[in-house]
Amino acid sequence: MDLNVDMNSAFEEVDESTLRYIVMKGSAGSGKSVDTAVNYIIRLMNDKGRNLVCIRKSDITNRDSTYAELTGAIYRMFGNDAEKYWTIKQSPLQLTCKNGNQIIFRGVNDEKQREKLKSITFQKGKLTDVWIEEATEITQADFEIIDDRLRGQLPPGLFYQIRLTFNPVNKNHWIKKVFFDIPDPNVLCHHSTYLMNKFIDDAYRQRMERRKLVDPEGYRIYGLGEWGEVGGLILHNWEIKDISLDLSDYDDVALGQDFGFNHANAVLLLGIKDDNIFILDEIYVHEKETSEIIPIAIEKGFPTNRTMWCDSAEPDRIKMWKKAGFRAKAVEKEQSEKKYQTAQIDWLKGVVAKDKTVKRQIYVHPRCVNTIKELQQWKWKKDEKSGEYQDEPVPIMDDAMAALRYGVEGWRKIKKWMI
Ligand SMILES: Nc1ncnc2c1ncn2[C@@H]1O[C@H](COP(=O)(O)OP(=O)(O)OP(=O)(O)O)[C@@H](O)[C@H]1O
Ligand SMILES: [Mg+2]
Repeated sequence: MDLNVDMNSAFEEVDESTLRYIVMKGSAGSGKSVDTAVNYIIRLMNDKGRNLVCIRKSDITNRDSTYAELTGAIYRMFGNDAEKYWTIKQSPLQLTCKNGNQIIFRGVNDEKQREKLKSITFQKGKLTDVWIEEATEITQADFEIIDDRLRGQLPPGLFYQIRLTFNPVNKNHWIKKVFFDIPDPNVLCHHSTYLMNKFIDDAYRQRMERRKLVDPEGYRIYGLGEWGEVGGLILHNWEIKDISLDLSDYDDVALGQDFGFNHANAVLLLGIKDDNIFILDEIYVHEKETSEIIPIAIEKGFPTNRTMWCDSAEPDRIKMWKKAGFRAKAVEKEQSEKKYQTAQIDWLKGVVAKDKTVKRQIYVHPRCVNTIKELQQWKWKKDEKSGEYQDEPVPIMDDAMAALRYGVEGWRKIKKWMI
């Protein structure tokens, strides 16, 4: 079948390669995920007998990443005719091409999931392709279990292939040692940046330029796609989890909002239960007016009977939210901005008073993909001379983090809140 799709030329070489290992490091927004998804859709439609498994460390994150990219590619290619070519199933996630080829989704988070990897079977043919998305999340041992699945004779014309896509977040990572430091004729190492992505808009480019100035270390990884190191992370007590979306399951619920236009405007829906914080949903948009964001919140069903804690710097926007029926309220910043942030961060880590610490975990629903990205990058400033971290966050990629800081305001300040 001849499919006409507009793609980035930077990935031509990887898309045509039949080598066993395709290792794609790249900056944020370089086009790796979209290209990979489109390429698999075309490949599976054209080559009968191929089957793909998509791997994320945490299985539940597949829905909002690999599955979303693949179904997105199908709908972009075929529009309303999508179901003529593919059967799209949600539970469990599964895509079946009309020629019988299939795509399934797996994780490697625990023993049970690893065991499930060992017993993969398909309606027709064998497992030939593996896409490991955000591959720096997985261990070398897990990679080897996966690699082991691709063996045995294949019919003529077919080949095995594993594709790894990731941001090079750690220069000591096993992926660098195994694939980049030792030349191997079975491996194709690829490098891409957002500058090679013709679909990226100017505003994105400008945000990256700002990052270059404010956060040179982060820019190296997320802007240039070069091996670096994300050190000095602020929050470690968080994890991605399929948490309940029933608001009545929580002791209390609140919203947090950080206004933005060039930066993201972030709104988070938060719950608290015992000492744990739950991030249930997010709005994360660039270059949108408040009048465009309010309908998104309404559509998402964000509650209007709970406090929405907002940045105090923009009273006019707060007024608009109030007018739309939300209980928007400005946070009251005590002391200096720096001290205010430190107090919030301490509380989020579980330091509730000078002499009292609780065990606190922050659970994030997998659909909050932007909040997860920020949690992975939010870090302390580093003193360039001494190399020591300071007690102030790097002011970049911190909009969801600001919404989180504001959103917990009521719980942090009134220690015994009413239910
Ligand atoms: N072939 C394409 N057709 C249309 N849009 C594209 C295409 N490739 C990339 N894009 C656009 O570029 C954006 C970034 O691409 P993508 O998400 O694939 O980057 P990435 O390299 O996976 O980034 P990250 O490292 O942050 O995951 C996409 O959200 C999409 O808007
Ligand atoms: Mg990606």
